[in-house]
Amino acid sequence: MAYRHFEFIEKHAWTLGILTAVMVSLGGLAEITPLFAEARQVRPPENIRPYDPLRLAGHDIYVREGCYLCHSQMIRALRFETQRYGHFSAADESVYDRPFQWGSKRTGPDLARIGGKYSDEWQRAHLLDPRSVVPQSNMPAYPWLSQEKLDGGDVAARMRVLRQLGDPYSDADIAAAPAAVDGKTELEALIAYLQGLGIANEPQTAATAASAPAAGVSP
Ligand code: HEC
Repeated sequence: MAYRHFEFIEKHAWTLGILTAVMVSLGGLAEITPLFAEARQVRPPENIRPYDPLRLAGHDIYVREGCYLCHSQMIRALRFETQRYGHFSAADESVYDRPFQWGSKRTGPDLARIGGKYSDEWQRAHLLDPRSVVPQSNMPAYPWLSQEKLDGGDVAARMRVLRQLGDPYSDADIAAAPAAVDGKTELEALIAYLQGLGIANEPQTAATAASAPAAGVSP
């Protein structure tokens, strides 16, 4: 009996198409709905603070310059990833990243834990002229970053918007922002941002500090 039903469906393209769409939608909902509930439950852990003004400016320059087009910031829970980049990324590490920078395109290496890997001087030389430190690099140079100064009022305005979205900046934090970035260049902001990646935010709870799962476990 059932066989005949299948035959009918398979011989009628529209019926097959519509039923396929229904089944795919149900499957999609079953996968996606729990994630919405989970996202609401993710609470920023104690050790993770919103970006200070300089790093916040750096984050926004990173987005503006499109660094994410070549760099991801998400280490997957696979042995070969954790051996190369360090502890796999956890959702709560990017609670203050708007927009988040997980990405999937890796023309260059993942940067989720780049903080502290190199000196500030290395980062400066690399951003101004990548081939001066990595001869075979095909990363573009960003020489203009050292010429542009940050605008303190702009950084404070960004912090106010983020506070509306839920980031715990106090009035004092925002009032202090213009002085904190005064006279700093975009290059300094971007380097401060890079040097904090994965250091300020490394997950430190007992559960997440456990070693990475074996290869083959999907993230
Ligand atoms: C066209 C692709 C491309 C873009 C765009 C790009 N990069 Fe890269 N990046 C690379 C490649 C390839 C490497 C590896 C070679 C090297 O170290 O230069 C790299 C390396 C790096 C490294 C060193 C990583 C390590 O672990 O050694 C940092 C830091 C970095 N990029 C930061 C940035 C920042 C910040 C931006 C945006 C201002 C940026 N990149 C934009 C391709 C890119």
